[in-house]
Amino acid sequence: MKVTALFCRTFNYMLIVSLFLFSALNFGESQPPKKAKNGMVVTVSTPASLVGVQILKDGGNAVDAAVAVGFALAVTYPYAGNIGGGGFMVIHLANGKNTTIDFREKAPLKAFRDMYLDKNGNYIPSLSKEGALAVGVPGSVAGLIYALKKYGTMPLAKVIQPAIDLAKKGWKLDERTAESFSKTLDVFKKYPSSYKIFSKNGVPYKEGEIFKQPDLAWTLEQIKKNGRDGFYKGKVADLLVKQISEFGGIITKEDLLKYKPVERKPVIGTYRGYEIVSMPPPSSGGIALVELLNILENYHFDENDWGSSGYIHDLVEAMKYVYADRTKHLGDEDFYPVPKKGLISKAYAKSIFKKIKDVATPSKDIKAGNPLNYKESTETTHYSIYDKAGNAVSVTTTLNSAFGNKIIVEGAGFLLNNEMDDFSAKPGEPNQFGLLGTEANSIQPEKRMLSSMTPTIVLKNSQPYIIIGSPGGSTIITTVLQVIMNCIDFNMNIQEAIDAPRIHHQWLPDKIFHEKFAIIKDVMENLKKMGYKFADLHSNFRIIGRAEGILIDNSKNLIYGAADPRGGGSAEGY
Ligand code: DON
Repeated sequence: MKVTALFCRTFNYMLIVSLFLFSALNFGESQPPKKAKNGMVVTVSTPASLVGVQILKDGGNAVDAAVAVGFALAVTYPYAGNIGGGGFMVIHLANGKNTTIDFREKAPLKAFRDMYLDKNGNYIPSLSKEGALAVGVPGSVAGLIYALKKYGTMPLAKVIQPAIDLAKKGWKLDERTAESFSKTLDVFKKYPSSYKIFSKNGVPYKEGEIFKQPDLAWTLEQIKKNGRDGFYKGKVADLLVKQISEFGGIITKEDLLKYKPVERKPVIGTYRGYEIVSMPPPSSGGIALVELLNILENYHFDENDWGSSGYIHDLVEAMKYVYADRTKHLGDEDFYPVPKKGLISKAYAKSIFKKIKDVATPSKDIKAGNPLNYKESTETTHYSIYDKAGNAVSVTTTLNSAFGNKIIVEGAGFLLNNEMDDFSAKPGEPNQFGLLGTEANSIQPEKRMLSSMTPTIVLKNSQPYIIIGSPGGSTIITTVLQVIMNCIDFNMNIQEAIDAPRIHHQWLPDKIFHEKFAIIKDVMENLKKMGYKFADLHSNFRIIGRAEGILIDNSKNLIYGAADPRGGGSAEGY
């Protein structure tokens, strides 16, 4: 009862902060995907996609382009692109190496388990989402620079310059971005440093106007001159700490100095002979995706199954078991022993598959499994980039909510994240995405909060085949799952696979979320007879994910790119 009420509250909050950002979807015949021979960059922001493809044309590799795009998105997509947040990068190098870079934010040194509870032990949801206490120690700058030094070929000065130019000279606001500023203006008003940037003395920006960010250009210049020290030390660090402490936050200079990205082994799985390379903890994305695919591999689907009640039933039941496991077993592996091998083992998935009945099993009867018994394993704002040498990069990065916690660091021109909300503030209390957590994802100093980000590379015959990822909080994992299955099981091209309407279930609340046209009337009637309940189409998750993907067809020597029509952006190839 209590949990249901809390879901309503958090989902209403989500609704308020995010509904306006999504324009109506149009699911008709898909446009053909963009086609190129040499390289492809797909992002949610056209100016950023153009920056990336120019780096490729100038001879940079996919990592150079990814770093340039990362900085450019901080300028052209302040909604989620960032230098004040964090993210994950999955890399497949042409020499066959797969690796990942974790630049997720960390809890500050002064953070503690019950920091969002009042003296009676009640959770205060606003504290983990708004204001300076919601901020995790940012990782993006350190992560991008690490990736560039280790796997790029170009100097930082070259790849960061386009972002500096865009911030200094400005760029033409598209309708979506201008609207997102004006619709958030009431919140920005609370923070003079943000109000100043996102409006012209209170007058909203309009589509077509040039948007300049001189303070952000200055910060990017500091990074250009001094590398990571330009952000984590010196004047930018001073401004960041000052801003946070003025709003009662706890991040110190020591937190900034101590921040380090971590290179981690990817989660590796297989699906119908394809190899899945994805992000390990502190993201739940890779493990949950592989666990889902392992369960679903036990079914056979053909093109007539897509959208049928049987197919949706199979997907949803698998999702319920996997999100139950996520709640119990997933957290930052540096702090908690995640039973990774079991969770991604085929035998464990088979044991779940065997439990799936022909009707809906209520979520209250589904509990997290015991993957520790299964040791066997196969060993195991998103942007996608592929270069002419065959390197693939898949990056998902975030400030968490739209514009993070909405606070611009005065004088430094960048937004702060509210990633601390991704921790489980108290068992049984959902976060803004309705996700629950337990000890595995409790707050501890320097721990990374659990993520759902799922930057993924699918390999076919050991070569990159699909590069994919998405934003969307808890719906990221199910979005990536459906795009991959649409390509592999239903033979869709990458644009069709991304455009196709999606469904989502996350165990609790026990409801199917779905996009318009995802479930037709007869199918819904069938599913209701099987025991399913549906979220109101106009409630939360009206739009499920915004995937940006690339599919490489080696038989034709062609690279196909597709941006999600649910967001702006473009695929740019050459
Ligand atoms: O890391 C996570 O799972 C979340 N902070 C992602 C937030 C997100 O995708 C917001 N976008 N709609």
